[in-house]
Amino acid sequence: MTKQLKILVIDDEKLIRWSFEKNLSEKGYKVITAENGTEALKLFENYNPNVVFVDNHLPDMKGLDIISRIREDNVDTFIIFMTAYETVDVAVKAMKKGAFEYIRKPFSFDEIYLIIENISEKINIKNELLLLRREEKEKITFNHIIHDSATMKQIIRVSRKIAISDATTVLLLGDSGTGKDVFARAIHNESSRKTKPFVTINCSSLPDTLLESELFGHEKGAFTDAINLKKGLFEIAEGGTVFLDEIGEINQATQVKLLGVVENRTIMRLGSTKEIPVDVRIVAATNKNLRESIENKSFREDLYYRLQVFQIEIPPLHERREDIPVLLDYFLALFNDMFRKKIEAIDPEAKELLGHYLWPGNVRELRNVVERAVILQSGNILMADNLPCEINGMLPQKSNGSGYLFNFPKEGISLEKLEKQLIMEALVMADFNQTQASKLLGISRDTLRYKQKKYNL
Ligand SMILES: Nc1ncnc2c1ncn2[C@@H]1O[C@H](COP(=O)(O)OP(=O)(O)OP(=O)(O)O)[C@@H](O)[C@H]1O
Ligand SMILES: [Mg+2]
Repeated sequence: MTKQLKILVIDDEKLIRWSFEKNLSEKGYKVITAENGTEALKLFENYNPNVVFVDNHLPDMKGLDIISRIREDNVDTFIIFMTAYETVDVAVKAMKKGAFEYIRKPFSFDEIYLIIENISEKINIKNELLLLRREEKEKITFNHIIHDSATMKQIIRVSRKIAISDATTVLLLGDSGTGKDVFARAIHNESSRKTKPFVTINCSSLPDTLLESELFGHEKGAFTDAINLKKGLFEIAEGGTVFLDEIGEINQATQVKLLGVVENRTIMRLGSTKEIPVDVRIVAATNKNLRESIENKSFREDLYYRLQVFQIEIPPLHERREDIPVLLDYFLALFNDMFRKKIEAIDPEAKELLGHYLWPGNVRELRNVVERAVILQSGNILMADNLPCEINGMLPQKSNGSGYLFNFPKEGISLEKLEKQLIMEALVMADFNQTQASKLLGISRDTLRYKQKKYNL
C-alpha cells in the first residue's frame, strides 16, 4: 500500500529532480517532477499526489505560495518544504501554511526516506482508522449522536420511540449536514429490524429508469440491458429498512410507484405485473422544502402525507448552538486519534469564533473545520489562525488589500448563495433583531422577512 505513494517534486534544478526520480523510483515510489510553479499546480490537480517536495525558489513563484495554493482545498497531501539559504523564519512560515516538514539543502536521501516512511505510516494509520469507522458506521445508534441542546434531546427521545414502534415510514427533514444519514442508521439499529438489511440509495444520483430498476428490480428481458432477473432494493431489504435519501428529487412516475409501495406494501418488478409483498420500513430524507415542491407540483401531495406521518425535523446547527462545544470536543478527540496528535484544548478566542459562526454546512462543516485545523496545528492548543477565513474573520478584504469586498473563489459562487450567507451574517450581527439586520443590509424589514422565508432562515 505504501509503495503506491505518489510523489511530486517541484524544483527548478535539474539535478535535484533527477536524483529524486532515480532514488525514489528505485524504491518503488511513483515520482513526477515539475520545474516551475505553474506546471506544478497543473500536475498537482491531475495527479493528486500524497507527498509534495517543494523548493522555495522557483522561476515563477515562491514555494510558500504553492503551499498556500495547495492548502486552499486540500488538507490530505503531505508537503515538504525545501530550503537552501533561507533563515528559520521562512521554514516556520512554511509550517504555518501547512507544510508537514522542512529540509535544508543539501540533504541526503536517507533523510528523505525517513520522512517518506513516516508519512506512509501516517497514511496507513488513517486508512485503517477509516476502515474501522466504516465498520462502526454500521453500528450507529442514537448514543453516537453527539448533542447537548434541549432541542436535540427532545428530538432523539421522539426518534427512539419511532424507531421501536411499528411505523413503516419515517420522514427525515433537515439541511445538508445536519445528520439525516446518522439518524436513518440509528433508527434502523435501534429497531427490531436491526438484524435485517439496511439498504440506502441516493435518489438524485441515478437517472430515472435506473433508479426504478434499482428500487423495484426487473425481470429478465424487461428492457435491452436486462439480461438477467434482478431483485430490487425493496426485496433485498426484506424485513429491514430502505433509506431513500434525497426523496425530493424523485420524478413523478417513480413517485406513483412509491405511493403504491407505501399503500399496498407490495412491489412490481419492471417488466412484470405480479405483485410481490414486501416488509420494509421506508426512511425517506430530504433537505428540500417539500411543501414548496407540492405547491409547484413537483412532489405529490398524497405521497407526502403518507410519508410524513412520523416526521423528524433536525434543526440547523446554528439553531442549537449548545451542541457546538460537545461536537468540537468530540471531533477534536476523533482527529487527534486519527492523526496521532495531542491537541489538548481549543484556544478561547478560537472557541468563541467557532461558537458564533453560522455553520451553513452544519455538522459536516464543523467536522471538516476541526479536521483541517488539527492537521494544520503544530502546537498543542488549537489556535484561531488555523481556522478557515470565513470563521476567523481574516477575510480577504483585510489581507489581500485588493480593495474588493469579496474574494471570488476559483469555482465561482451563486449570487443566491451569497445573498443567503450575507443575510445570515447580518442577522447574527444584529442578534436576530430584524429591524437592525435590515438596516445593515439596506433593505426594508418586509423584504428581509420575505428573504428569510425564501431561504428558510
Ligand atoms: N450529532 C452528530 N454527532 C456526531 N456526528 C454527526 C452528528 N451530526 C452529523 N454528524 C456527522 O456529520 C456528517 C454529516 O452528517 P450526515 O451525512 O448525516 O448529514 P446529512 O443530513 O445526511 O447531509 P446531506 O443532506 O448533505 O446528505 C457525518 O460525518 C456525520 O457522521
Ligand atoms: Mg445524507
